[in-house]
Amino acid sequence: MTQHFIVIGNPIAHSKSPEIHTLFAAQSGIDISYQRQYCPDDAASLNAVIEAFFQGGGVGANVTVPFKQVAYDCCVARGGLSEHAKVAGAVNTLLLNQALLKNGTPIAQAIYGDNTDGQGLVNHITSLGWPLMGARVALIGAGGAARGVILPLIEAGIAELTLANRTLNKATALVTELSAASATINKQQIKTCTTDDLKGDFDTIINATSIGLSGDTLPLSDELKCHYAYDMMYGRELPFLQHFAVCGAQTSDGYGMLIGQAALSFERWTGHTIDVVQITKALQAH
Ligand code: ATR
Repeated sequence: MTQHFIVIGNPIAHSKSPEIHTLFAAQSGIDISYQRQYCPDDAASLNAVIEAFFQGGGVGANVTVPFKQVAYDCCVARGGLSEHAKVAGAVNTLLLNQALLKNGTPIAQAIYGDNTDGQGLVNHITSLGWPLMGARVALIGAGGAARGVILPLIEAGIAELTLANRTLNKATALVTELSAASATINKQQIKTCTTDDLKGDFDTIINATSIGLSGDTLPLSDELKCHYAYDMMYGRELPFLQHFAVCGAQTSDGYGMLIGQAALSFERWTGHTIDVVQITKALQAH
C-alpha cells in the first residue's frame, strides 16, 4: 500500500524533498508518494492543511520556511513535541503520536512534532570523519538555524561551544533560554562573543547565519583558525568556506545536512535506515 507524505512550505516549488524521499523509498524497497504542499502564510491555514492531511490517511509531513515555529505551536496544542523540537522551538517533521491514538485521542489532536535539522548536521559532520567528541566548536549565528543545532552538538560530546553573533545580546539571550529549556545544556559550557571578536583555534567552526543569502561576508578575524569549516548553506559560492579553505581547513557546505535531516524524518516515519552516503552520491550525479 502506498504511504503518503508531504512537505509544507511557502514558497514550495523549489523544494528538493520529493526527489530525496523518492530515492530513500527506492533504497528501502517501499512504495511512497511524497508531494509538495503550498500553504498560505497564516497559522489557521497551516493547521487546516496538517489536519486534512492526517485525517486523509497521511503518514508524515515535513515543514519548511516559514512554518517551523507555527508547526511547533500546533504540536504544543495537540500531540506533543520531541526534546529536540522543544529546545529548537521549531518543528520540521510531523507524525501521529501512536500512544495517544491508542488511548482513543482523535487524529487531529494526536499530531506530534520532531526536529531532525540539528541531528542531520551532526550526522553529516560525523560522516565526513570530523571528530565532535571532545571538540572545541564555534557556532556563528543566533537565529533559528543556530538554535536548532546547539543541543545535538552538545549531545555529540563537544568539549566547549563558543556562540558568536553580530548582535551579542541575541547570543547571550539564546544561551540563557536554551539552558533553561534543557538540562543537557550547561550555560557554563557556552561562551558568547560578537562575530568580530571571535578569535583563537577551534577544531570546527560552523556558519549558521543567513549571510550567504545576501552576498555579504562575515567579518572574520585573522586570528581565527580551525581544522574544519562548515556552512549550513548550500547551492551557491560560500565566501565563509573559501576563507578557511585558503587557510588549509577542510570544508563542507550544508547539502549533506539537508539529506541527513531528511533521512532522519524518513527513518522516524517508516523505520527504514537510510544509507545517506549512497543517496548523496546519487543526487550529486544528477
Ligand atoms: P535563521 O532562522 O535562518 O537562523 P534568522 O533568525 O533571521 O535566520 O537569523 C539570521 C542570523 O544570521 C542571525 O544570527 C543574524 O545576526 P543578527 O542576530 O545580528 O541579526 C545573522 N546575520 C544575517 N545577516 C548578517 C550579516 N550581514 N552579518 C552578520 N550576521 C548576519
